[in-house]
Amino acid sequence: MDALLEVRDLSKIFHPGGGRRIRAVNGVSLGVGRNSVLGVVGESGCGKSTLGRLMMRLITPTEGQVFFRGQEISALGRRALLPFRRAMQMVFQNPFASFNPRMRVLDALMEVCRYYGMTGGEGLKRIEGLFEDTGLSRELLGRWPRELSGGQSQRLAITRALLSDPALIVADEPLSALDVSVQAQLLNLLEDLRETRGTAMVFISHDMTAVEYLSDTVAVMYLGSVMELAGAEELFGGTVHPYTRTLMEAVPRLEAGLRNQERRPPSVKEAEKRDREAAMSGSGPSACPFAPRCREAVPRCRVEAPSPREVSPGHFASCHLA
Ligand SMILES: Nc1ncnc2c1ncn2[C@@H]1O[C@H](COP(=O)(O)OP(=O)(O)O)[C@@H](O)[C@H]1O
Ligand SMILES: [Mg+2]
Repeated sequence: MDALLEVRDLSKIFHPGGGRRIRAVNGVSLGVGRNSVLGVVGESGCGKSTLGRLMMRLITPTEGQVFFRGQEISALGRRALLPFRRAMQMVFQNPFASFNPRMRVLDALMEVCRYYGMTGGEGLKRIEGLFEDTGLSRELLGRWPRELSGGQSQRLAITRALLSDPALIVADEPLSALDVSVQAQLLNLLEDLRETRGTAMVFISHDMTAVEYLSDTVAVMYLGSVMELAGAEELFGGTVHPYTRTLMEAVPRLEAGLRNQERRPPSVKEAEKRDREAAMSGSGPSACPFAPRCREAVPRCRVEAPSPREVSPGHFASCHLA
C-alpha cells in the first residue's frame, strides 16, 4: 500500500498507579492509504482512542513506530512535530467540549487561521469556503458555541480541523454524541469531504454500520490487538475472526440500525472483566486475548497468542482457526 500513515508493532502501556500496567495497544501494525478511510472498530475500552492518539503522536508509543509520508515520527519532540501537526488533525466525540465558550465562532476559527499564518482576509475567505463544504450557514459566525446544535458543533469542529488543509483526519467517535438522524447527515458529510477534498481518514467507532458505510479498510480491535484487518467489502462480505462475528451479531444491521435510537457500545459482562484485566495487564498467560469469550476456542488458543495470518490477499486475521 502507498501508505500516508503507517504504524508498526505499536504498543502503549499505561501505568495508572498502584503498580498496575494497562497494555492499551498491543503490537498493532497497519497503514492508512492516501485518500482512503481506515475504520477502527471494537468495544469500549479496546484501545481505539489510544491508537488514534498514538497515530497523531499526541502520546508517545511505548514500543513500535509511526511513519507519516514515510518519515518516522515516533520519537520526535514537540518542535520537530509541528509540521506534522498541520497535516494531521483530530475530531473528537464531544463537539461541545472542543470550543472555548467565551469565543464567538468567527473568533475561534480566526485564531486557528492566524496560528497557521493566514492574514485576516485569507482566514475569512478560507472559513467561508469551508462553511460551504461543511454545510454551515454564514450566520453562525457571529454566534456563541452554546447557541449551536450538536450537529452544527460537530460540523464546526470538522471545519476547524480542515483549516490547515490536512492530509489526514483522525475522527474519534465523531458521531456518538449526536442524535441518530444527525449521525446520518454527518456520515454523509464525511463521505463528501473525502470525495471532494481527498482527505484520508481514520474513522474510530464502535458502530459497525457507520464503519461499513465509510471505510475502505477496517481494523477490528480487541483488548489492544488487531484481530482482523481487511478491505471493508471483504470483511463485511465474509468475516473470518470469531470476535468480528460476535461484534456483527451484537449490532443491528443497516436498516434496523438507522431506526434504532439506542446505539450503545456492547459492554462486556462482569465475569469476562477479570479475563480482560488479566490480559490487558500483560500478566495473564500467553494466549489469544479473545479465547475466554470465544465459542470456537481450542486448547491451543489458551496457550499461544495467534499472530496475523493473511487468509486472502490483504485480509489478515489473528486466529489459529483462520
Ligand atoms: N491515560 C490513561 N491512563 C491509564 N489508562 C488509560 C489511559 N488512557 C486509556 N487508558 C486505558 O486503556 C484502555 C484503552 O482505552 P481507550 O483507548 O480509551 O479505549 P477505547 O477508545 O476503545 O474505548 C482502557 O482500559 C483505558 O482505561
Ligand atoms: Mg475511545
